[in-house]
Amino acid sequence: MGASGAYNLQESELSLEERVLVITKGRNAMNAFESLLSPEEIEAVAKYTFTLADQ
Ligand code: HEM
Repeated sequence: MGASGAYNLQESELSLEERVLVITKGRNAMNAFESLLSPEEIEAVAKYTFTLADQ
């Protein structure tokens, strides 16, 4: 957890499908983005989070 309260996405091991679900619906302290982003935008953001991963 970073200082902002958001999860450190460098450490995420979720699949693309699971990331899409968390971004769409939210989870615990994470807010939902379904009212802000289209399904296509959410998938694009979820794919982007893979580029943040620790190698
Ligand atoms: C562009 C914005 C964001 C994206 C793409 C994003 C994406 C994600 C993803 C993919 C996960 C799942 C990580 C995992 O379990 O491996 C996650 C979890 C989480 N996010 Fe976000 N997030 C965003 C914004 C935020 C914000 C603004 C907050 C709160 C300040 C937040 C708080 C959290 C928390 C607390 C979790 C862990 C949820 C849990 O404990 O079940 N996120 N986020």
